[in-house]
Amino acid sequence: SDSDRINVAIDGPAGAGKSTVARKVAEKLGYIYVDTGAMYRAVTLAANRLGIEPHESDRLKKLVESIHIRLKPVVDGQIVLLNEEDVTNAIRTREVTLRVSQVASHEAVRMKLVDMQRELASLKGIVMDGRDIGTQVLPQAELKIFLIASVQIRALRRYQELKENERIPLQQLEQEIADRDRSDEQREISPLSCAKDAIVLDSSELTIDQVVALILDLSRTKMAEA
Ligand code: DC
Repeated sequence: SDSDRINVAIDGPAGAGKSTVARKVAEKLGYIYVDTGAMYRAVTLAANRLGIEPHESDRLKKLVESIHIRLKPVVDGQIVLLNEEDVTNAIRTREVTLRVSQVASHEAVRMKLVDMQRELASLKGIVMDGRDIGTQVLPQAELKIFLIASVQIRALRRYQELKENERIPLQQLEQEIADRDRSDEQREISPLSCAKDAIVLDSSELTIDQVVALILDLSRTKMAEA
């Protein structure tokens, strides 16, 4: 019943499979999936378009207060709207990916987005993925997963996702992933870290469906306890 609904927090480094796993878990449970990385990406896209550099703290603060970001749940995931424009694909470009970690390090940006994320989760029945969901955004989430995989595996998965005309050498991808890990882990505000009560899942040797099945089992256990 609805009273048994829980919130599931899925955190971990870039490329561990969080978003695919979170989307599938939400679908199976009939829950709403919230991709918080997409929100930081939307702010970054808006900044790029206005020529705001990722270190320009004051301009980013003004920007984040003036734009409207909305996640619209659809059957197989979500659409990302920036001032009502569909930017679902535009936020996945390399220009955004290479800058988003620095944009996400600003306190004003995080405060605004974390407020929005808590609001979205207030009804329960949410699967939310990010870096700080279990530690900062939803410390009361009934189930917290910390999903990891080796840098080599994550780079290989990313490589296989790229189309032929956008191929980047595997070694460069490994370097970029390692750099983003470091930057997400070392930032002062809400760094990527594993909550004390999170369950660590290493997906290096597991398929997506195996990871999904594990999280569904854990979810049902938590629901029975709730
Ligand atoms: O999950 P992703 O790769 O789309 O996230 C993009 C960036 O956004 C990531 O490098 C760190 C940042 N991020 C964050 O700081 N906090 C979150 N909850 C989610 C993402």
